[in-house]
Amino acid sequence: MDEYVIGVDLGTSSVKVSAMDRKGQIAAQESYEYPLHQPQPGYSEQDPADWVKGATSDIKRLIEDDGLPAESIKAVSYAGQMHGLVLLDAAGKVLRPAILWNDTRTTKQCQEIEAKLGHRFIELTGNRPLEGFTLPKLLWVKENEPAIWQRAASFLLPKDYVRYQMTGKQGMDYSDATGTVLLDIKKRQWSKELCDTFDIPLSMCPPLMESIDLAGNISADYAQQSGLTTATKVFAGAGDNAAGAVGAGILQPGMVMSSIGTSGVVLKYEADANNDYHGAVQYECHAIPGTYYSMGVTLSAGNSLNWFKHHFATDIDFNTMVERASKRPLGANGLLFTPYIDGERAPYADADIRGSFIGVDNMQTRDDFARAVMEGITFSFRDVMNIYQQNGQDFETVVAIGGGAKSEFWLQLQADIFNKEVVALTNEQGPGLGAAMIAATGLGWFTSLQECAKAFVHFGKHYLPEEKAVERYNSLYEIYRQVYGQTKQMSHQLLQWRRA
Ligand code: XUL
Repeated sequence: MDEYVIGVDLGTSSVKVSAMDRKGQIAAQESYEYPLHQPQPGYSEQDPADWVKGATSDIKRLIEDDGLPAESIKAVSYAGQMHGLVLLDAAGKVLRPAILWNDTRTTKQCQEIEAKLGHRFIELTGNRPLEGFTLPKLLWVKENEPAIWQRAASFLLPKDYVRYQMTGKQGMDYSDATGTVLLDIKKRQWSKELCDTFDIPLSMCPPLMESIDLAGNISADYAQQSGLTTATKVFAGAGDNAAGAVGAGILQPGMVMSSIGTSGVVLKYEADANNDYHGAVQYECHAIPGTYYSMGVTLSAGNSLNWFKHHFATDIDFNTMVERASKRPLGANGLLFTPYIDGERAPYADADIRGSFIGVDNMQTRDDFARAVMEGITFSFRDVMNIYQQNGQDFETVVAIGGGAKSEFWLQLQADIFNKEVVALTNEQGPGLGAAMIAATGLGWFTSLQECAKAFVHFGKHYLPEEKAVERYNSLYEIYRQVYGQTKQMSHQLLQWRRA
């Protein structure tokens, strides 16, 4: 009987489950969409029960519809949307909807953290306090929902909650734990200093694991719900960006990834926790034991293009929209878009900035607008690359995953805007591939994630920057860079006006 591992990619719009064999070939794949609730500007919540329902439905379909025998599924692991706060009571019951990574209600709490600890916070966590992280969310609940806070006994991140429902055991891996900003990044342990400073009981923080550590087996209860057997092993898994980096082979120095999911990420492998970017980019533990990565996040990357498609291009499918955009002239006939539709993280860390189209003109068509959105998202990645360059951390090649790797046009666009060689994978699966690799390595099919990558990760076509396009985009980028500064005040005023 063939043997499989399962990677559960718990995203913001859907959960995708992929079964892979020992050679890294996909045997079957299922996905399930769930809603995102945005009751007010800046709020972003989900019901953790939806994640479990979606993952379980996917797994059942792998077994029932795709015909994978339950006994052939040897291990499960995860790639999860990061930072989301799942607050649990002493019985392990969810106390309120999860507050997600792209929720920006916590500006006040971030300012308080900054005021209390200043640079010490970066020393301890490797990060500046940003709205998306988990600690400010904990402080928000403490301040605004004291009755709920009183009942809170522990917290988990999204994929940890799903794992808890599958195994009955609570825990968190280091890659996701760094994203809570309660972890001492150098000591790799929960920071007592931070917990004491913010009056958060250390006992609320779950046990820590490496991504490839065994977290338990499928519980009898979950076996009954899903059709899996209790012999299936469950490995801790990683935050989606660490898992995406594993799946993209970002496993040694000098390697950089660009990833377009709901958010967008430029991510760089770091051998240790010692590169000091002064908080300009995030610093996280990697899924490879003992190693790290840094990254700059565009809050709405794929989300900006989805938003545009959903509201303005409902009559055509996604590929047609991209294909038509690719036919428009470079620079979309002078139209610029900034993707700040939910605020921004890198390089501006401004929850109240909003997106804009600049240069709207009588000659432009809807296809120019779609192209401008894609160009704007890619410019926002270049903003992050600038941070690396300014810190003397240059690199040659970028491995692209996610939405930006699904079209030749967007891959070439990245090469031209970054002025770097861009490489695609032949078996591009985003973070789900990394999750399956973590399961395969945990299971002992491979001695390390690097060994697993030799079998699972296949680099495909290389896209080289084209000189003329690079020049044209360089000059357009100089205009793009000014948009933030010139629209900041107006954006803030508009948001205040909406909130009044
Ligand atoms: C990373 C971040 C996002 C989410 C998306 O810091 O907030 O990339 O992980 O799922």
